[in-house]
Amino acid sequence: MKDTIAVIDLGGQYCHLIKRSLRDIGVQATIYTDAPSLGVLAEHAGIILSGGPRSVYEEGAPRVDPAIIELGLPILGICYGHQLLAQMLGAKIERGQGEYGHNTITLRTENTIFKGTPPTQSVWMSHGDSITELPDGLKVLASTEGCETAAIGDEARRFYGVQFHPEVIHSDYGEQILKNFSRLVCGLEQEARLEDQVPLVLDDIRARAGEKSVFFLVSGGVDSTVAFSLCAQALSKERVVGLYVDTGLMRKGETGELRANLEALGFIDRFHVREESERFIRALDGVIDPEKKRHIIGRLFVEVQAEAMRDYGIDEEHWLLGQGTIYPDTIESGGSSGRAAVIKTHHNRCAEIMELIEKGRVIEPLTEFYKDEVRKLGRAIGLDAELTNRWPFPGPGLAIRCLCSAEEEAAERLSEHLDGVVRERGFDGILLPIRSVGVQGDVRTYRNVAAIRGPLDCEALQSLGTTLCNLESAPNRVIYLVAGDEDRLADARVKKAEIHEERLALLREADFIARSMMAERGLTDSVWQFPVVLIPIALGEGESVVLRPVNSRDGMTANFARLPRPVLKQMADRIRDLRGVDAVFLDVTDKPPATIEWE
Ligand code: XMP
Repeated sequence: MKDTIAVIDLGGQYCHLIKRSLRDIGVQATIYTDAPSLGVLAEHAGIILSGGPRSVYEEGAPRVDPAIIELGLPILGICYGHQLLAQMLGAKIERGQGEYGHNTITLRTENTIFKGTPPTQSVWMSHGDSITELPDGLKVLASTEGCETAAIGDEARRFYGVQFHPEVIHSDYGEQILKNFSRLVCGLEQEARLEDQVPLVLDDIRARAGEKSVFFLVSGGVDSTVAFSLCAQALSKERVVGLYVDTGLMRKGETGELRANLEALGFIDRFHVREESERFIRALDGVIDPEKKRHIIGRLFVEVQAEAMRDYGIDEEHWLLGQGTIYPDTIESGGSSGRAAVIKTHHNRCAEIMELIEKGRVIEPLTEFYKDEVRKLGRAIGLDAELTNRWPFPGPGLAIRCLCSAEEEAAERLSEHLDGVVRERGFDGILLPIRSVGVQGDVRTYRNVAAIRGPLDCEALQSLGTTLCNLESAPNRVIYLVAGDEDRLADARVKKAEIHEERLALLREADFIARSMMAERGLTDSVWQFPVVLIPIALGEGESVVLRPVNSRDGMTANFARLPRPVLKQMADRIRDLRGVDAVFLDVTDKPPATIEWE
């Protein structure tokens, strides 16, 4: 094990991403969720302490044995881990000005972990606490404007801490920092190729399945198609059967496209389609709360699958249930360590599925991987790039992109402080009486959305979005009016709205316009994902549509994608022309502080 790094999971959203980022640079890591003994840790080449949602000064917050600092091993603390390491070494940590999302650090002194990186660089932050006093021996290595101790280190003892997240793609030199830690500090040097994982995944499927066959829930999306195809390769086509449930929550033309994809892969007689739209939409009647929607949908998937198995004479004794669950689905649903916060319960992590997992009745070949890795695995087993590059589409479908409201309410003015910040940058705005999900400092937020108007300047919008969300009791999402009557923005109000076919049809049309325009202009691959969201915000008699194009590597962090200005304008105008649409907004929030999907 001296050739691996121990990653101690302190409950962070990105803990597993540390392992994955190390995998990318050829370094193997073992994640420990329960504090491992000093003897176990001593077998590793170095230790990384992950981020986490708690505060180090809180009672009951996760800790490690302080004796790890006597092991003589290199230690890198990240975010919460950075503060915990500093605290063990005698530093003071206090609640401060939060920093969520993009930020810039300036290096203060030469050191090993920042070797080969520029004096100022872009990093991804997600913290509310900061180290405010350092003991002798620990030096400040880098600072941001709001956080003096953005990176600290003791070169002699090989202890380092970074307040930001080097493991997420949006920290520009994060990979170099992890390389420096594992290679220069811990002395590890290896090469890795994801394709080499294919035989391991196939072996793992065979071992898990034993004599059993697999009944797969397929959505036609990347994850389930790759997982289904891997199972078919590992076990033979005869031992896999797919079930596609038409929930009525799919995008325009999607069911047909998905059927064609699976048929093209040669699964013509290996999958069933069940039309269940009425049942799903009826169950969502009057449901406003996003987590409730998610639980209902997850439960219905399990019910439909159980009925289908009965109908097709597929028994539990000889069959396992297959799912294309990937790692982010698990961590966003609260992870398996019990320490991570629930950001969103993914449809494949509802209570009913968790029960089946406990009974050993589920097989999920991709739970260790991230979306971009799944795409590479898919290509390595011969799937078409057109399929593997599809934009991700969530299992709960349009239900979580169709916001509902129980009440009618007028928009509020922004607080004086927020209003001042908005105006000083040449914009003005309001606080909408609808809420959306966000993730800040590794915990879920569910807060109001700010809507602003002003010049279409993406850099100014990005900076304003981040600043507004970082202020105390601020919104967690900011949207910008692209098309609609600007003068009526101040009078915006939320209407009563539920999920029903008419609203879904409107959302489907808006989504179709956005998707087709991106395809016609050859821009599909220029963004990682492009949710289109219907919000019951009226500037007149109708509602509003929000465009949410994002760029990401793995969905764990993201920034809003800059579309060419004429395309954005034209797209917004065409959607605005749909009957029932008053306004079209662009979501200008990164993740964190917002999540990609609104619910
Ligand atoms: P968020 O909204 O949390 O989403 O930033 C990250 C990625 O996960 C997708 N997503 C889901 N995928 N079932 C899925 O299969 C789900 O329940 C689910 N919820 C979110 C989301 O579309 C994005 O790509």
